[in-house]
Amino acid sequence: MPQQVRAVVAKAKGEPVTIETIDIPDPGPGEAVVKIQACGVCHTDLHYREGAINDEFPFLLGHEASGIVESVGDDVTSVAPGDFVILNWRAVCGDCRSCNRGRPHLCFNTHNATQKMTLDGQELSPALGIGAFAEKTLVAAGQCTKVSPDASPEVAGLIGCGVMAGLGAAMNTGNVGRGDSVAVFGCGGVGDAAIAGAHLAGASTIIAVDLDDKKLAWAKEFGATHTINASSGDVVEAIKELTDGNGVDVAIEAVGLPSTYEQAFYARDLAGTVVLVGVPNPEMKIELPLIDVFGRGGSLKSSWYGDCLPSRDFPMLIDLYLQGRLDLERFVSETIALEDVEEAFHRMEAGEVLRSVVVL
Ligand SMILES: NC(=O)c1ccc[n+]([C@@H]2O[C@H](COP(=O)([O-])OP(=O)(O)OC[C@H]3O[C@@H](n4cnc5c(N)ncnc54)[C@H](O)[C@@H]3O)[C@@H](O)[C@H]2O)c1
Ligand SMILES: [Zn+2]
Ligand SMILES: [Zn+2]
Repeated sequence: MPQQVRAVVAKAKGEPVTIETIDIPDPGPGEAVVKIQACGVCHTDLHYREGAINDEFPFLLGHEASGIVESVGDDVTSVAPGDFVILNWRAVCGDCRSCNRGRPHLCFNTHNATQKMTLDGQELSPALGIGAFAEKTLVAAGQCTKVSPDASPEVAGLIGCGVMAGLGAAMNTGNVGRGDSVAVFGCGGVGDAAIAGAHLAGASTIIAVDLDDKKLAWAKEFGATHTINASSGDVVEAIKELTDGNGVDVAIEAVGLPSTYEQAFYARDLAGTVVLVGVPNPEMKIELPLIDVFGRGGSLKSSWYGDCLPSRDFPMLIDLYLQGRLDLERFVSETIALEDVEEAFHRMEAGEVLRSVVVL
């Protein structure tokens, strides 16, 4: 039976989100309906509601979620009703030119549900193909990654976006290793996860950069060895001072601004790596002397979802969490209700929280 559930919808650019009753079809072939237990508020949800991703309103927001599979389409064998899952936005196809070259973590043709969820007959665009600020959501079965139910829903859900994006930006894309120096620009949930990832990977110098002293204090709890308040002077010089005048091996941008990208570019050592994980809006541009791009060597990379393979990485991160080696609870600033998402956006913008997590 098609169902009606309560959900958070962004109807128009910049307008406050509202709680709506939406329609969810039964799962068809390759699909699953998941009863959401928890969903973190990621800055990307705010980017959607600001029209900074695209203008396919109305958006069904929320994408950093965990829950229980309620029902699956006839042909689905990868998950079954009752499974505890983290939702992912990289359900690999197994047959695109990237998958066929043995790089499923970069799959160019990821799966989402084929059928549409609707609001008063109008098709909804689920954020990152998920849409989990809702009592239930319809996804492709491959978007459900089964993990140990020993982890609580609110921490497990965080792995579904921000934590994976940040950890993976450091560990996968940036390839941070033992003894490396790393700078992370922007210490929200994503940046702090990059700091935690650099720490796990054995970096010896981890420099956190933010405009907010509270964020910098939190960054230290995730493993930052040094902090720089970007409003207090020349960030690039400050990073060079902390690295014998050289700059860092890996500079991770987790804000999504040209100015911080440029800082990351100039704050890295020769042959260093810049990783852009912050999401820019379509109007943003950077201008860099080409001789500086050439002359420094190294690599300029972007990281989507921390270059993760959910089936490989999510259970591994849950294991690290259950062993006490990855402090996921520290990311959860508050648990809130569906009705509180708009206010949580304001708290995120005011820098008061790392992650607000909707618990259902
Ligand atoms: N690439 C991906 O796969 C991926 C996944 C999730 C999120 N993101 C993006 O990562 C970015 C961060 O997300 P979040 O949820 O951590 O956001 P957030 O708002 O919680 O954190 C952003 C942080 O940047 C800081 N900041 C702002 N301007 C700054 C400046 N000029 N210099 C230094 N610090 C500054 C803020 O104080 C804040 O602490 C967003 O752009 C988000 O869309 C990317
Ligand atoms: Zn996200
Ligand atoms: Zn593929």
